Amino acid sequence: MTDANQQGASPAPQQGHSIETMQVEERRFPPSAAFAAQANAQPAIYDRDFDELWSTEAGRLDWFEPWTELYSWNPPQAEWYIGGKLNVCHNCVDRHVLAGRGDKVAFHWEGEPADEIVPITYSDLQSRVVLFANALKKLGVQKGTAVAIYMGMVPELPVAMLACTRLGAPHTVVFGGFSADSLGDRMVDMGCTVLITQDEAWRRGKPVGLKIIADEALELAPNVQTVIVAQRTFAPVAMQAGRDVFWADACAGLSDDPASCPCEPMDAEDLLFLMYTSGTTAKPKGIAHTTGGYLVGAATTHHYVFDHKPETDVYWCAADIGWITGHSYIVYGPLANGATSVLYEGTPDFPAHDRWWEIVERYGVTILYTAPTAIRSHMKWGAEHAAKHDLSTLRLLGSVGEPINPEAWIWYHEHIGGARCPIVDTWWQTETGMILIAPLPGVTTTKPGSATKPFPGVDVGVFNEAGEEVGPGGGGYLVLKKPWPGITRGIFGDPERFQDVYWSRFPGVYFAGDGARIDEDGDYWLLGRVDDVMNVAGHRMSTIEIESALVSHPAVAEAAVAARADAITGQAIVAFVTLRSGFESSVAMLEELRNHVAHVISPIAKPANIVFTPELPKTRSGKIMRRLLRDVAENRPLGDTTTLADPSVVGELQDRAAGENAGEE
Ligand code: WT7
Repeated sequence: MTDANQQGASPAPQQGHSIETMQVEERRFPPSAAFAAQANAQPAIYDRDFDELWSTEAGRLDWFEPWTELYSWNPPQAEWYIGGKLNVCHNCVDRHVLAGRGDKVAFHWEGEPADEIVPITYSDLQSRVVLFANALKKLGVQKGTAVAIYMGMVPELPVAMLACTRLGAPHTVVFGGFSADSLGDRMVDMGCTVLITQDEAWRRGKPVGLKIIADEALELAPNVQTVIVAQRTFAPVAMQAGRDVFWADACAGLSDDPASCPCEPMDAEDLLFLMYTSGTTAKPKGIAHTTGGYLVGAATTHHYVFDHKPETDVYWCAADIGWITGHSYIVYGPLANGATSVLYEGTPDFPAHDRWWEIVERYGVTILYTAPTAIRSHMKWGAEHAAKHDLSTLRLLGSVGEPINPEAWIWYHEHIGGARCPIVDTWWQTETGMILIAPLPGVTTTKPGSATKPFPGVDVGVFNEAGEEVGPGGGGYLVLKKPWPGITRGIFGDPERFQDVYWSRFPGVYFAGDGARIDEDGDYWLLGRVDDVMNVAGHRMSTIEIESALVSHPAVAEAAVAARADAITGQAIVAFVTLRSGFESSVAMLEELRNHVAHVISPIAKPANIVFTPELPKTRSGKIMRRLLRDVAENRPLGDTTTLADPSVVGELQDRAAGENAGEE
């Protein structure tokens, strides 16, 4: 088929829309009457007034001193719950113990070596936090001291975060998969004087020497004077005299009585933590979150979006605490709501592909929150692993991190949710701190691939280039028109960059960097990063629809598309495809997949070529890196690969792309 043919078959570009959309998804999943009757959210929640909603929801927290003004807004600067004083550790730990819920499990911690299971009650958590906060205090940490944390998913990680918040010391948690350079840069940028780390972490059955990496990072960050080392594997590690101390030694002889270490009253706008986002290439941005608005936002959304019932639910967010998802929806939101959560140290495929499902069965998990990348991995491995376990306790499923392909949504619904659990596809960002677009289970009719509606009290829009609302049916730029409690207060130390990245495209309006479409029912469909939009023969197309069309073929587990230059159409589409286990790549398969895309969306979306690959290049948080796929598609040297989870994947892809230039006629 020639490009001219493709053009002949294509519809005219849609007028006035910045991104065209072609995919039609007709499946609808209305809530069951039984779920709706017991749901935390009832339909009238959408009628609530902005000020009333955020004022009332702030009442889920204990305030040492009441706030006097709900919010102020001088774009890009928002403040919330002005004048209020509170403490995050008090709200997440102490108040539950004071209310007589000390014996309730906060975390069912499970190590990667499966024989290690530790239930941690709210009382246990309080003792551990107080003891460690006393240790930090003795080492000189006080209100305002910047603390870096570089750990795996061990109980000491939330304990360290909560101990910091108890003292009013802002933290930055650096994901345990990051390199020494990344850790060093972040510690310097934030001006950290203390680092909390561990000897080694377990990953897929192998110990990873975190202390060794931390030592390298510390050479770049002379500002760090104290290093606390938790012992996970008890492997011998180098300890620098005068700087390094083991966790147990730092705590020795100290009190775990809460009265010995009261919770520091913090201003609602005091810095709680920084979370660095790597973006694509540039220097990481230290995204700042403060105390009051962030905690109200995380707790409120956790309550409604997950329909969380503290007395009966066993909640599991399977992200890593080192990302914002883990901060808001493993640690701060759930603990503020008195949740019982699962905290799992390891990978989903160790020692076997059914590890997650074994965990769901063991603890009777009722709510599971994960990412499309994980769902697609499970699809690739096959549904038989989940089928071996009793997943009947599950009652709600969630997704976050990327647009979820409708076929992955359906797979999740059928094979994990037993066709009975509502799925909440939650859109948000490190910068937003909290979920902003998601269904409310029991209220919203869901559609596979749509994050559906803005959370009540959140003002979302879709703009065209000119900054006008595109309205139903149109694709464009996702924006936030009003502040929300969890909005970032800025990029640490770089107000100009903050202004430039988020506020310059549409003055006074937050630009998220994502494309989106609103359908006739007012439901939002996220279209991926606007930088990834392709232009084929004058049609501006998002990557996600073509990827989802590929994933809707029974042979495909995962797909990513990128554009390369084309003399006739401007750009041509190259697809990178991972097949499900049991399927083989072949020229016939390639043709079948190209025709499948033409059939389910449009001939203009038909990939010019397809490269089969066992793995796609992803960031450490599991997002497909299309920027690198563009380099591969263009056959040019790769850009920055330092944010890749597994750098070997792209080298192999380049070889495959060079070898398999099939598909082009
Ligand atoms: C970007 C933010 C927020 C927690 C994890 C990621 C993409 C996130 C969805 C979703 C479509 C999504 C967006 C967003 N994204 N959730 N449900 N549907 N896209 O945080 O690393 O700051 O990434 O992830 O592109 O801008 P993050």
